[in-house]
Amino acid sequence: MAKKLIVGNWKMYNNTQKASLLLHSLSEKVETHRDIEVVLCPNTLALQSLSLQVNRRQFKLGAQNCYWRDEGAFTGEVSATMLRGIADYVIVGHSERRHVFREAERDIRQKVQAVIRNGMQAILCVGETARERSDGETAEVVRDQLVSGLANITSEEVASVSIAYEPVWAIGTGSVPTPADIRAVEKVLRKEISVLYGKKAAEEIRILYGGSVNAENTTELLSVKGVDGLLVGGASLKADEFAAIIEQAFAVTKKDANK
Ligand code: 13P
Repeated sequence: MAKKLIVGNWKMYNNTQKASLLLHSLSEKVETHRDIEVVLCPNTLALQSLSLQVNRRQFKLGAQNCYWRDEGAFTGEVSATMLRGIADYVIVGHSERRHVFREAERDIRQKVQAVIRNGMQAILCVGETARERSDGETAEVVRDQLVSGLANITSEEVASVSIAYEPVWAIGTGSVPTPADIRAVEKVLRKEISVLYGKKAAEEIRILYGGSVNAENTTELLSVKGVDGLLVGGASLKADEFAAIIEQAFAVTKKDANK
């Protein structure tokens, strides 16, 4: 069984000093479990200093974005090459990148490729807007985003990708899809992976859920069949709550192991 993956996306919160204090607090509160991988994604500036502070046996580090060219005249950007050795994971195509910054599918697929080329793991985010959901387009939207995001990725490389299903309408709103809705999307994603890369890749790829995850709903969300982890926003900024999420993830893993 693959390790459960719990990712904290700190978004544009916490300057370098506060990020360091949060890591300190998390390192005291979060228990290390063999079957759970915990990834912290601070802002890019804090990433460098946290990489010197972090105990990598306890936490992995992730970036929230990167640019796909290795270097060049791209003012304001940080490349995957520059993140190499500092981050283990890079989130690509987060809904805020897609919708606030109008990131194009073409860039997203180049970014996934750049992350893997530079030896890191990509977390490719997909998810429908409220409008697409009410129009009954969820399956089509996530399938298109998946196919497009993986367009440059070979069957060997896909082992370095995890998919995060984050419905746009569930992010920061307190609304969460039903377990049946999440399961339906998980099936769509695995089916498409199977078409593209075969059955084994479809079974092995890690699919995460994200959007208003908290300590109260973690058990239910992680109990959805086929959900291998969580992408946590707001609740990952509170050390006690994030630690509680990890403990519940551990309890779910133990229950799964005893089945
Ligand atoms: P919230 O958990 O704050 O809803 O954010 C989810 C998210 O976007 C994580 O990437």
